[in-house]
Amino acid sequence: MIEILDDEQLLMRARIELVTEIERGSIVLSSRVAEAFLNVPRHPFVPVFYRRVGSAYVPWRVTDGTDAEWLRQVYTDQALITEVDGMLAEDAAPNGRTGAATSSSTMPSLMADMLDALDVHHGARVLEIGTGTGYNAALLSYLAGAENVTTIDYTAPLVLTARTRLREAGLEPKVLRGDGAAGQPDGGPFDRIIATCSVRRIPQSWLDQCAPGGVIVAPIKGTLDGGAVACLTKLPDGGAAGRFLHTPAAFMPLLSGPEPLFAMPDQIDGAQRTTETSGRVLDDYGFSFWAHLHMNPTTVRRGRLVDGQHVTTLYDHADSSAAFIRDRADGPPAVTTTGPRDLWKSIEAAHEHWRRQNRPRREWLTIDATTAGQSISYAAPDGSVSRWPL
Ligand SMILES: C[S@@+](CC[C@H](N)C(=O)[O-])C[C@H]1O[C@@H](n2cnc3c(N)ncnc32)[C@H](O)[C@@H]1O
Repeated sequence: MIEILDDEQLLMRARIELVTEIERGSIVLSSRVAEAFLNVPRHPFVPVFYRRVGSAYVPWRVTDGTDAEWLRQVYTDQALITEVDGMLAEDAAPNGRTGAATSSSTMPSLMADMLDALDVHHGARVLEIGTGTGYNAALLSYLAGAENVTTIDYTAPLVLTARTRLREAGLEPKVLRGDGAAGQPDGGPFDRIIATCSVRRIPQSWLDQCAPGGVIVAPIKGTLDGGAVACLTKLPDGGAAGRFLHTPAAFMPLLSGPEPLFAMPDQIDGAQRTTETSGRVLDDYGFSFWAHLHMNPTTVRRGRLVDGQHVTTLYDHADSSAAFIRDRADGPPAVTTTGPRDLWKSIEAAHEHWRRQNRPRREWLTIDATTAGQSISYAAPDGSVSRWPL
C-alpha cells in the first residue's frame, strides 16, 4: 500500500477540498490566497497534533503512514492544537495530558480571511507575530517571497521546530525567538504586519515599524471570550485607522512574561436579585466583543455548568467586585453580587445598548490608533457615534 504522505494526487485532492470547504463558508478568497492554500501543504507543519479525548489532549500522529482519517483532520477547516502548557504534541506521552492549549495551527478559513485582508504582494516586507507551527509563515513566504518574511515566536522549541519544517519545505524566512510585543526593531520598516495571537490594543512598536501605507492585521481581544480581527492602514502622521473583519476570532493572547493568575471565587455571598439577561449572552462572540468595550479591562469571566445549570462568574481583580449569574429552570436568572460594584449591571447595560443599536456586527466597528491613544467606534445609522478607549 502506498503511504498517504507519498501520494501526491491524494495530497493535492486534500488541499483542493480544504479550499472548497473554506469557500463554502462565508469567505470569498482572492485568487492569490487560494493559490497559496493550493500550493502550500499543511501536513508537514502539523505532523503531530492533539485531539480532545474527554478532558485530556492526546497526541495524534500518522504512525504507519496509512491513517487516512489523520490526513482528513489535517485538511479540515479547523484549528489543530499543537502545544499544551508548553508541551509540543510530538513530545507528549501517548496517553496525553490535561492543561491549557498554548499553541495551535489556526483555523484555515480564519487564516485565509486575515491573509486576504493583509493584501500581500510579492516583495512586500512582512512581519508575523506568533510563528506557531510555521504554516502561516509558509503561506506568507509563498505570497511575499520567503526572503521578505520575518516571523517571531515567544517559545524557543516552537521556533526551532518551525524553522526546521520551513527549511525542509525549501523556505528560509527569518524565524526568530523573541517577544512579539516589541516587533522586530532591527528589521523594519515592514509593509505588512500580521499577529496570530491577540492583543488588547495595537502595540506602539508595530505602529512604529509599519511603513506609511502599510497594513497591520491583528486580533483584538479583552478578557471576555469574543475577539475580532482589526485591519489597519498606517497613516502618514504615524497613526493608523481601520475596521474589523466579520470572521469571529478568539486567538490565544500575546504573552509577555507569565500571565498573572487571578483566582476566581467559586461561591459568593452577597446581595441577590433577578435579571432578564442570562449569563449565556457572553457565549455569543459578537456580543462579548461589544461587552468587553463596556467593561473595566481587569474584569475576567468564567462560564460553566453547575448541576446542569449555566453559571457565569465575573470578577474584577482591581476592586474585588464579583457577580454570579445562575440560569434557573423555574424562573429568571438569579444574580448574586459582592464588592463595591454590581458587575452584571454593566453587562445588562451593554446588552441593552447592543440591542437598541440592532446588534452591530464586528465589521461595522472601526478602530483608530494615534499617538494620543487608541479607540474603537461605532457610527450608528442615526448619526450617533459610540467610542470606547482601548
Ligand atoms: C495561534 S498560535 C500561531 C499560529 C501560527 N501562526 C501557525 O501558523 O501555526 C499563537 C502563537 O503566538 C505565540 N505567542 C504568544 N505570545 C507571544 C509573544 N509575546 N511573542 C511572540 N509570539 C507569541 C504562541 O507561542 C503561539 O505559538
